Amino acid sequence: MSAAREHFGSRIGFILAAAGSAVGIGNLVAFPVAATKSGGGAFLLVYALFVFLICLPVMMAELALGRKTDKDPVGAYRQLSGGSKLWRIPGWLALFTPFMIAVFYMVVTVWVLGYLVEIFKGNLTSLTTEAYFGAFINSKTVFFYLIALMLIINGVLSMGVKDGIERAAKTLMPLLFVMLLVLVLFVLTRENAMLGVQYYLIPDFSKLSGEVVSKAMAQAFFSLSLGMGIMITYGSYMKKRDSIPGSAKAVALTDTMVAITAGLLILPSIFHFNPQIDTASLSDSSAGMIFLFLPKIFLSLQDSIGYTGASVFAAAFFFLVFVAALTSLVSIIEVPIATLRDERGMSRKTAIYTVAAVQFVLAVGCAMSFGMADWLTQFVSLAGSDKSFFDLVEIVFYDTILPLNGLLVCIFVIYKWKRANFDQELHEGDSGFAGSFSQKYVNFALGTFIPAILLLIFINTV
Ligand code: PHE
Repeated sequence: MSAAREHFGSRIGFILAAAGSAVGIGNLVAFPVAATKSGGGAFLLVYALFVFLICLPVMMAELALGRKTDKDPVGAYRQLSGGSKLWRIPGWLALFTPFMIAVFYMVVTVWVLGYLVEIFKGNLTSLTTEAYFGAFINSKTVFFYLIALMLIINGVLSMGVKDGIERAAKTLMPLLFVMLLVLVLFVLTRENAMLGVQYYLIPDFSKLSGEVVSKAMAQAFFSLSLGMGIMITYGSYMKKRDSIPGSAKAVALTDTMVAITAGLLILPSIFHFNPQIDTASLSDSSAGMIFLFLPKIFLSLQDSIGYTGASVFAAAFFFLVFVAALTSLVSIIEVPIATLRDERGMSRKTAIYTVAAVQFVLAVGCAMSFGMADWLTQFVSLAGSDKSFFDLVEIVFYDTILPLNGLLVCIFVIYKWKRANFDQELHEGDSGFAGSFSQKYVNFALGTFIPAILLLIFINTV
């Protein structure tokens, strides 16, 4: 028998850890970029609707699966399906998806770390040339940073759920909130900042299209760390006396607030840099934004606060992104670790080494797929164009499998595990939820239109 399962020490500890997972590069960069390009306030509105009407019930379902079973995703599906062979598949998907997403997310985080160090060294100017990024991601230093990053993540994980994950979140998340606010307040005092705020918050409904709506949905789903087994795993570390609906709401709200606030940092900065900017010309990709565009914007602050001031600002921003990515990575890597412990009876330490060894190899493969190794750079040909190993992981796991996993969670919880059992788990620690409007909504939505929407997104990307 393994030792009793470790739990988060407090409700706020759980909320911060789950918010640490949810708040990531998606909030700080992908969301502001998507909002800018897709109708500002109109996108915000659609996004918020998706978060609270669609994603929040899915989060409750994932948390309930974990807490009911006290298990990793594979174990949770196995136990609640009575060992059904078919229902083993979503369990395995909820293991491989986070495993692979972690790999590609790790590579981007490595670049963030590298840029942060360069800014500290006083090299902000060199980061603003396009050639620099290409040279940096193809240099051997990325492997050095990869090792450093893995040491940090696994260092946190090795201390366990309460002393590692929870403590890191309790320290880093408040720091992140405060730093984000300070940066926003500073940026808002810059010239033309209000143009950015206007652009960001005034809705332009003409930009809303089917594609934009589906982008908002995918973004909301990813941002809340759904479909990756994370909330199932974190649910298994929740105490019975804590409210699942209440905690899930707090996590969703925190995540959304951070995303919206990040827009108040990025947009005013862009408009301060160039008040006439054509927002359609901005890159769609977060990586393009972080590594090619933002350094230029930050450097331009030197006109008013000097080179050192601009460097401090840039370093603070990259540090923020790094912290957000770190707490997300911790959560996602905990999933395979939990599986190896629960399903294979491994100790935490052995599980950490095993996962780290395989992930290191795959991450090196991803990092080498930008030119260092030709066969990884042109790994497959999809829809007539060459895709790298990195692209493939992103397309398969992020774009496609994520909504599929969400769909499977809904169907499993309502039709296999059954509504009444799900309800009972939600009532545990939250007696007020029984019979409430929220409960009726969650029950109805999870069994009907939420899986339908996720199915549409899945078909669309396939
Ligand atoms: N919620 C994260 C984000 O917005 C997504 C994520 C979670 C990515 C966990 C990796 C690991 O960036």
